[in-house]
Amino acid sequence: AAGSFRRSIASQLSKVLDLPPENLIKSISAVPVSKKRHVADFQLSIASVIENSSSDCLAQDLQLQAQQLAERLKCDSVVSEISAGPGTVNFTINRELLAKTVLQQVWKDGSEYGVKSELFSTVPRQKAVIEFSSPNIAKKFHIGHLRSTIVGNFIANLKVALGHEVVRINYLGDWGMQFGLLGVGFQSFGSKEKLKSSPLQHLFEVYVQINKAAEDENIKKLAKDFFRKLEDHDEQTLSIWKQFRDLSIEEYIRIYKRLGVHFDEYSGESFYQEKAQEVLKMLEDKGLLQKTIKGTGVVDLSEKKDLSTVSTVMRSDGTSLYITRDLAAAIDRMNKHSWDTMIYVTDKSQSNHFQHLFQILKLMGYDWAERCQHVSFGLVQGMKTRRGEVIFLEDVLNEVRSRMLQNMTSTKTTKEIQDPVETAEKVGLAALIIQDFRGLLSSDYQFSWDRALQSRGDTGVFLQYTHARLHSLEQMHGNAELTDVNVACLQEPDAISLLQHLLRYDEVLYRSSQDLQPKHIVSYLLTLSHLAAVAHKTLPVKGSAPDVAQARLCLFHAVRSVLANGMKLLGITPVTQM
Ligand code: ARG
Repeated sequence: AAGSFRRSIASQLSKVLDLPPENLIKSISAVPVSKKRHVADFQLSIASVIENSSSDCLAQDLQLQAQQLAERLKCDSVVSEISAGPGTVNFTINRELLAKTVLQQVWKDGSEYGVKSELFSTVPRQKAVIEFSSPNIAKKFHIGHLRSTIVGNFIANLKVALGHEVVRINYLGDWGMQFGLLGVGFQSFGSKEKLKSSPLQHLFEVYVQINKAAEDENIKKLAKDFFRKLEDHDEQTLSIWKQFRDLSIEEYIRIYKRLGVHFDEYSGESFYQEKAQEVLKMLEDKGLLQKTIKGTGVVDLSEKKDLSTVSTVMRSDGTSLYITRDLAAAIDRMNKHSWDTMIYVTDKSQSNHFQHLFQILKLMGYDWAERCQHVSFGLVQGMKTRRGEVIFLEDVLNEVRSRMLQNMTSTKTTKEIQDPVETAEKVGLAALIIQDFRGLLSSDYQFSWDRALQSRGDTGVFLQYTHARLHSLEQMHGNAELTDVNVACLQEPDAISLLQHLLRYDEVLYRSSQDLQPKHIVSYLLTLSHLAAVAHKTLPVKGSAPDVAQARLCLFHAVRSVLANGMKLLGITPVTQM
């Protein structure tokens, strides 16, 4: 919707400034709705025009420029008012045209509202590999893995919505000495039934038990032997390992489904055992592999080539390390998918690892190393369930569901809700996701169930509540019809605020697509919900004249539609009742 307005403003400006309109469009942005209430809908930033054009048609005195420019521009059928601000020229769109255009666009584009904006027209369509979640079999699924899961899912959703091709990869920690121990542990404490019924829990328990027993040198030796056999591809050993892995993945798939998350590929460190050896060979051939006195292999990453910064890629016994397998995996993914960009999502403790990884790839001559990106996030403290420390993803999901269900039953009867348990799960997940996405991903935060699950304020519960409320409004009054809507009925300040806010959606998507931070969308949706709550009171549908009721219904429908689109991008399934 904003597009046609931006274009029309740009075309007028382009004549006055003698600059091509394309250069001006990015300097025109929708004005955020604030409590003070802006009259203007768009503003042109003079500073940004100067920055984006080599032309010297504008003097450096921004204030003066804005004033002079405003005087030279004329109102037309689109723009009804022009004024100068400090360094900006402000434009107010014809009020009825604003309502008509926004509503029509939301209707027409539906789930693609905002993503079809010309803001994205210069962004080339790309193929992105996104690697996220990546838990370790038999170990804890910690909060970092949960964050990686929801952040990676968000990035993938956003890219897909913007028309990019996405490959979602889960790179499991499915190799290493832990499997030696696990194999031996299973022989002593394992149960085939438990492995089948709850593999993740059972393997974790076996692993904890065998770790205690592993003080014993005998056990250590047995574990080493088991892992050695694995590395040597002993068939029987391999089939035990494969069973651990397959059953774990089966259970992961089931649990990810509760989160609405899926993967195109379950990869893992095990895939790259041999390819890592090829990488070592390549490093050696390229003269990049240096042996230390201890016999380990390192790559010199220092500028002066004085070994002041190195990355260890080989153990003294010739075996590969975490980073060696990552090198092999990156190269393999390029061969397989020829991606344009590859994104790794993990907590920031692995930042160094990924910097080293990208540097080595570059040294190896892969110029695509520059198109690899590590999206890192901060640490979360204090997430505990009633059972105690979080060990499995499922614990978190069950906890949030039961807490939410309890809140729902204590505040109102859940009898009218068709499926209270499922609703509680969706609302609870929204709460988790919004709490996590509200700030910058890189910041650490203290987790609080109470804060996350509040029904008022800036929470996922509030978003869900708003969505459900708008949905029931439509249920009550019949679906809105856009044809013949009388936009003259949408001129109250609260209606205008909503329309202005809807206008901004493409800019918000654009910002999130640039820095991959969900917080822009989160705060947009929270504001949308707050504005909707106000309008719900001041712009009643019930009891209003038919054309007023119809127009308001249309507006609320548009709000719900954009709210739902945004929530889905974040990985939230909107509920229709709660
Ligand atoms: N499994 C690792 C962990 O739990 C995360 C893997 C991250 N991805 C990678 N390509 N190294 O810490």
